[in-house]
Amino acid sequence: IAPRYELFFPIQAHHLDALAKDILAQITPPPGETEQKRKLLAQLEQLCKELISSARLIPFGSLVTGFATASSDIDCIFSPIQVSNNRYVETPHVIEGPTDAEKKRLGDNPDYPLLLAQLLEKNGFQVLLLSKTRVPIIKLKRAASDSHPELNCDIGFKNSLAVHNTALLKTYSECDERVKPLVLFIKWWAKRRCINTPYLGTLCSYGYVLMILHYLINVVQPPVLPNLQDIPPPATTHARELSFSEDGGDTDYFIWFAKNLSELPRSKNTSSLGELIRGFFDYYSFKFAWGNAVISIRSKGGLKTKQEKEWTTANIKTAGGEGETENTFQVKNRYLVAIEDPFETTHNVGRTCTGKGLNTIRSEFRRAMDKIKTVSMAQEFSIGSGIY
Ligand code: GTP
Ligand code: MG
Repeated sequence: IAPRYELFFPIQAHHLDALAKDILAQITPPPGETEQKRKLLAQLEQLCKELISSARLIPFGSLVTGFATASSDIDCIFSPIQVSNNRYVETPHVIEGPTDAEKKRLGDNPDYPLLLAQLLEKNGFQVLLLSKTRVPIIKLKRAASDSHPELNCDIGFKNSLAVHNTALLKTYSECDERVKPLVLFIKWWAKRRCINTPYLGTLCSYGYVLMILHYLINVVQPPVLPNLQDIPPPATTHARELSFSEDGGDTDYFIWFAKNLSELPRSKNTSSLGELIRGFFDYYSFKFAWGNAVISIRSKGGLKTKQEKEWTTANIKTAGGEGETENTFQVKNRYLVAIEDPFETTHNVGRTCTGKGLNTIRSEFRRAMDKIKTVSMAQEFSIGSGIY
């Protein structure tokens, strides 16, 4: 049943479309910022090589997906071994490890996080080493200067799976040109409404991206995106593209997804950005069953139930993931907001959301919908409207 405001929708969508484009023009990182981030990464990688010559810093997150806004940090993983790149993903593929001399100098089990933190500090970076997180993280900052803005970078020491889900997100973004502006707009909205702070009980950017993908794959009709994980791999696919297991880990993750976009049919959906924004807010305001549903973009239909996944009772198992680095080692796995990671299916990307966080998120969705329905939308969705 069409909601009652559907009647006014064409005008609203048109208006929303224009406003969204205006906002996007203002929040897109200034030209050169991505290059500056890449340059800093290359400079940091050079320093890592002083520690061990085969070291690499492998970027993931918004720098790679293109979903970065001006304030986005750089996410990367330190790998003491040389890896090869392929066209889609910087797939970890061992080529080279420490030399014999380096093995002698560093010993059997080098404390790379500590050694690297010390080296970076010596080279003038502001460094914070967080060792109580599931995997250690170095947070470093380079102060702004005349030639560049302040840059923040997180260096992780494990979680290569992030490289694969980053590649999945990037490929989805390449499938349709509406994905990136929609993501940037929703990220901007979520940050502005303070519902994008995982360590304070709300959802990380990655969670919002998965919510958007579910909407574009499974909800909007005709779909804007195909389900890339539901397309069978060609018989010739290399084993490295099918499954992956973390160094020393005993779990094999099925990481295949379709990458050959020229073989996929174009979407028949002709909605404007404004229509998609409205549809997204509408779905999560009135249709999505928050209490019962799990978003699972890898599955047909895009949804599972919490019962089916046994995601019903909070537990304290392990901390994990980027975006909650302020937390200590043990983190509660909550299932109030349930968003299954597309590869690590036991991982709830929404686990950081508390009851209060969920209520705030839901009321923000409804608030946005209210604004869209009324003329005050113009005020709400324009930069500098002073709503804080
Ligand atoms: P901004 O930094 O806010 O611009 O967004 P981002 O696109 O970099 O996303 P975010 O920092 O939330 O996540 C970075 C990457 O971490 C994602 O693209 C995933 O590859 C990976 N990741 C895997 N699991 C998690 C998780 O549970 N939480 C978060 N935050 N990231 C995860
Ligand atoms: Mg990030």
